[in-house]
Amino acid sequence: MTKLWGGRFQGGPSEALEALNASIEFDWRLAPYDLKASAAHARVLYRAGLLSEGELSQILGAINELHTEVADGTFVATLADEDVHTALERGLVEKLGDVGGKLRAGRSRNDQIATDLRLYCRDQAQALRANLLGLIAALADQAEGLASAPAPGFTHLQHAQPVTLGHQLLAHAQGFRRDVDRLDDWDRRAAICPLGAGALSGSSLPLDPQAVAEELGFTTAAENSIDAVADRDFAAELLFVCSMIGVHLSRLGEEVIFWASQEFSWVVIDDAFSTGSSIMPQKKNPDVAELARGKSGRLVGNLQSLLVTLKGLPFAYNKDLQEDKEPVFDSLDNLELLLPAVTGMVATMRFNTDRIRTSAPTGFALATEVADWLVRKGIPFRSAHEVAGEVVAHCESTGLELHEVADADLRAISEHLDPSVREVLDVEGALAARSTHGATGPKSVAVQLERINEYLNRQ
Ligand code: ARG
Repeated sequence: MTKLWGGRFQGGPSEALEALNASIEFDWRLAPYDLKASAAHARVLYRAGLLSEGELSQILGAINELHTEVADGTFVATLADEDVHTALERGLVEKLGDVGGKLRAGRSRNDQIATDLRLYCRDQAQALRANLLGLIAALADQAEGLASAPAPGFTHLQHAQPVTLGHQLLAHAQGFRRDVDRLDDWDRRAAICPLGAGALSGSSLPLDPQAVAEELGFTTAAENSIDAVADRDFAAELLFVCSMIGVHLSRLGEEVIFWASQEFSWVVIDDAFSTGSSIMPQKKNPDVAELARGKSGRLVGNLQSLLVTLKGLPFAYNKDLQEDKEPVFDSLDNLELLLPAVTGMVATMRFNTDRIRTSAPTGFALATEVADWLVRKGIPFRSAHEVAGEVVAHCESTGLELHEVADADLRAISEHLDPSVREVLDVEGALAARSTHGATGPKSVAVQLERINEYLNRQ
């Protein structure tokens, strides 16, 4: 016996078909989940009176052995096995003879694969979640030491207003925190068990899909057997979450790349997370950050690939659905590689805070302070903005910084401008003043840190 479907065929499959059709090279990683689902199915068949007690214990024993043999590599699949379900049924039959063939009653590879992939994704999502929490913790740790360190804040990559470095790092942490939420939310919809749907219509045997669902850790069995085998929303949604994580990693990576550039020289990436050049001995390259940026491409591509596969597919199962697995595996595998490396890079990055502080007020980044100062004096913001703009223009033509403008020149620009405006032309002062909820000032950042640490402790 090789194929699960040999009965009605005169000859075997062509080599070309066999090579095309097989999913075993990539679905073998689902073996532990397939075995777990098989054990649950065996119990249901027993309760339905379709397996004797002896047969059940034989089958459960063989499934246990297979678990071990798959893990230690003594049981291996071959190309002729076609897929993980075929290979494991072969394993059972090799151990038990005819009894091994009883397990197929009431189920199909269609509900099996849908179940296996959900089980796998739910497990992997937990690992992904833990990795994300690690990265959030690394960002929060760095932010703690930099909670009051002044830095230029950018819009359009131009100096906008000063911010604290801690605030900038926590901005990235917030995105990853939403990604953790997205995974949790995703899991609620993914926790539906397709087993029992059979090929598409359920079963005429007295199975118990709810019991199977519970045994496998799902919240409930699928409401509709056609949907159960046709639905890959859970995979597409997970790929969206992976893409979003990828985009977040890419934006963080991009910042680290320019922070580490000679021109910025804001951070030094630790040797353990940098690479060199084969020709230029002086080079130290931010490969981790670049791969964070680069891998987002394939993560988004994997989502795209699955959505295009699903689009227009008639219900219920079609072999096109076999194409769901590689994008999912690829995205999860790559994030598993990427997240620990990015976390390590973030945790060990050293900030050149003096240099960053010096550039914080440059580019007239405190011009908004002048406008706000005028507003506090009762001037409408519209005019205040105009006056502050004139001070900037004056500075540009004279080569001065805002705080260097002479008293008389301030007066000449506006009667409201007196020398006491210089009090707000100080980076630390400007930052300290930003103390409202969610603002960049050290006080607000301390609150934000407290909340994020509380959040991490709750996990
Ligand atoms: N390898 C198949 C897949 O990944 C398993 C389901 C096969 N079902 C079928 N009716 N041929 O989708």
